[in-house]
Amino acid sequence: MNNLETRARELNEAIAEVRRELHAHPELEHDLPFTEGVVVRELGRLGLDEVKSGQGRGHGVYATLKGGKPGKTIALRADMDALPIQEETGLPFASTNGAMHACGHDAHVAMLLGAARLLAEARDELAGTVRFIFQPSEEADSGAASMIESGALENPNVDEIIGLHTGNLWSGLRPGQIGWRAGPMMASTNAFKILIKGKGGHGAIPHLSVDPIVIAAEAIVRLQTLVSREVSPFDPAVLTIGSIAGGKAGNVIAGSCEMLGMTRAFDPKLAEFLRERLRATVENTASSMRGHGTVDFIGYLPPVVNDPACARKMRDVLEGVFGKDWVQELAFPSTGAEDFAFYLEKVPGAFFFHCSTFDDPERNYPHHNSKFDVNESVLWTGAAAMTAYALKGLAS
Ligand code: NI
Repeated sequence: MNNLETRARELNEAIAEVRRELHAHPELEHDLPFTEGVVVRELGRLGLDEVKSGQGRGHGVYATLKGGKPGKTIALRADMDALPIQEETGLPFASTNGAMHACGHDAHVAMLLGAARLLAEARDELAGTVRFIFQPSEEADSGAASMIESGALENPNVDEIIGLHTGNLWSGLRPGQIGWRAGPMMASTNAFKILIKGKGGHGAIPHLSVDPIVIAAEAIVRLQTLVSREVSPFDPAVLTIGSIAGGKAGNVIAGSCEMLGMTRAFDPKLAEFLRERLRATVENTASSMRGHGTVDFIGYLPPVVNDPACARKMRDVLEGVFGKDWVQELAFPSTGAEDFAFYLEKVPGAFFFHCSTFDDPERNYPHHNSKFDVNESVLWTGAAAMTAYALKGLAS
């Protein structure tokens, strides 16, 4: 066992304690005063060169550690926000405020604070500068963009950025392992809102109305054929309608119907194709049935595309420092999305999956489930992986 592994294992309980503190106090979107306070308190103990709170739209934090030797600048990023979910884990530190860390971002913050501590302790051998980024609002919107606007990638200019997501994202990984991939890692998303306008009336005389619910039903079926009939089976894409709302009574034909959904793809050209075909299908279906359909695109995330050199460097560093068992190449990307993509549009870098499942499958729940939990005993491997990348990867 090398020094980094020994020290990271020693810190596991301290990392888990911070995770529990954050888990008990989840906060949403950009409104993260408690979380910001914990991050500032913990970073304040490390003797860093700079800790800037109040960033992003008010509660983001970034901090800087200059190593004892010259070298490149690398950013390590964690997201801090929770979800509007009523927690049902029964954990002694479960949230009681109606929000929940059901995606493991509490663990992300705790692991990055652990990495900051490990790197501060090793600063004499650190060749270069490390920027720690604690960002708001990954789940909602504009968290990464708000940190970039606040200068999180500047002074000094960041050369590479690394991030990870813990939990249950890849079924083939074992607890504590890091999953890596060169190229596409997570999908782009286009969120959309569809409004179908008809003509309301009495349910007994449908011919004198234009029923937006029947139009919506027809549109949903036709939209499902975009992926199955118009996209190559070798180009991954997803189109999901997740919400439909229209009408209030069984004997009334509604005036309008609204749907919310999302498309996902890895190729930006395919994402654009789906946008165009979605719009045309909704408009044409509605007009052919005497109604009117519109599509509003209400949020776009680019795909997370890992720089191959950065992704392979993480593999090489972890294999070299900890052994081959620590890392696993992922056979294909995830159709989930991450606003880490915005950083990767500015600087090269890579995003990884950190497995924190339990050996007992009964304890594993999907992300965003009210019983989701992470295996605290392996949090040290996430902190150690980021630390090792910064220590070994900056020199090369
Ligand atoms: Ni997440």
